[in-house]
Amino acid sequence: MAESSSQNRGQKWSPNSWRSKPIVQVPDYPNMDELKEVEQTLGSFPPLVFAGEARDLKARLGRVAAGEGFLLQGGDCAESFSEHHGDNIRDFFRVMLQMAVVLTYAGSVPVVKVGRIAGQFAKPRSAPMESKDGVELPSYRGDIINGIDFTEEDRIPDPRRQLKAYRQSAATLNLLRAFAQGGYANLEHVHRWTLGFLENSPAAERFGEIATRITETLDFMKACGINSDNTRQLTATNFFTSHEALLLGYEEAFARVDSTSGETYATSGHFIWIGDRTRQVDHAHVEFMRGIKNPIGLKCGPSISDDDLMRLIDTLNPEDEAGRLTLICRFGADDVQEHLPRLVRKVQEEGRKVVWSCDPMHGNTIKASTGYKTRPFDLVLSEVESFFDICQAERVHAGGVHVEMTGKNVTECIGGAKTVKEADLSARYHTHCDPRLNADQALELAFLIAERMKKDRHGNRVSEAKTA
Ligand code: PEP
Ligand code: CO
Repeated sequence: MAESSSQNRGQKWSPNSWRSKPIVQVPDYPNMDELKEVEQTLGSFPPLVFAGEARDLKARLGRVAAGEGFLLQGGDCAESFSEHHGDNIRDFFRVMLQMAVVLTYAGSVPVVKVGRIAGQFAKPRSAPMESKDGVELPSYRGDIINGIDFTEEDRIPDPRRQLKAYRQSAATLNLLRAFAQGGYANLEHVHRWTLGFLENSPAAERFGEIATRITETLDFMKACGINSDNTRQLTATNFFTSHEALLLGYEEAFARVDSTSGETYATSGHFIWIGDRTRQVDHAHVEFMRGIKNPIGLKCGPSISDDDLMRLIDTLNPEDEAGRLTLICRFGADDVQEHLPRLVRKVQEEGRKVVWSCDPMHGNTIKASTGYKTRPFDLVLSEVESFFDICQAERVHAGGVHVEMTGKNVTECIGGAKTVKEADLSARYHTHCDPRLNADQALELAFLIAERMKKDRHGNRVSEAKTA
């Protein structure tokens, strides 16, 4: 066991013990009294999620870690106050459902659906300041901290934004719960999910074929006596929320003791993760995360060493609980081969239980000649393919993907079947931070993964038969 874990483990944890640790990526609030007041107010508000739901998600992820399931995690890079509309939430939820159906049906695997939503507001930045035409202002850090307009006023961190982010998260979560449980997700309506712009795309056509086969299967099941009146799984689904736990004052306000277990849970979302820029083992973010009992994620970029990773695993999951820790790997299509195998081997050697997930977005960001930040869809697909190749070669379960996506027909990532070109980027470039896959590209990615899972399973069966 690494040294710092025993140090950490011996130290008492509390929801505010992170405050005595070094910290990076903190906003410069001009009025600390106002910040404190807001944090106190947040601390008196109802939790957004219930600890039992987080435990349920952890158990599901535990099965993924054991090779029985797939984690589909996706949503905005940054949610925003201005894009808070019911149809945006519905369109996003619909594409997540479509992707999940493709993976479940074509890939024959239970899918755990987790949105980057209802709390994904705070952004780490590579530079604290941004310059434009000779003017320098603080960088935009997400709507929960400051405003995106390039004006002095907007860029001043304002604690009251946290209250607005909380209320928006509550409203978003309310609608998601209604969609998941109230009939929208009913498999008998699977054909209706194709309405909208997706109708004219190759991915939608393929989805239509799957929808037809599902309808036929449901008709057969109905004839056998299994229907939506007696089988809840057909009419409702489980959907979980997640975000980066970056703004620790906000997270602390929602760290609540669960009365049923006496343990502390983050109640700002079901699953929260540590970003690639804030994963220093002796720093504040890791300190906060080690004490809460939710399932958590850890972003792993190219700079993480094998020893760093083992120290983090020891600190964040000392009991080696299955489903507690998801490693979200984001190396880039060109670098994944250099880094993923060494980390997988190390974790295997140490016999630790983790979910391996692939974020094919953050290592594949480029600047288009027109100045827009974009991601070539080919590189996204290529990193996912390599992820599956490596997991197969190292004999670990390729457990999930983590993508930035939207249900809208945006033009932010180049490529895809209905090719978005560099010149198209300006047409519908709406993201508040990083470029997202549009609905078509997201669905195309789901088909690629489903086919890959089918192929791998078939390959395994053949090799099992040969060794039998
Ligand atoms: C993100 O997921 O939006 C993000 C900032 O990722 P990372 O920490 O991996 O850079
Ligand atoms: Co991002």
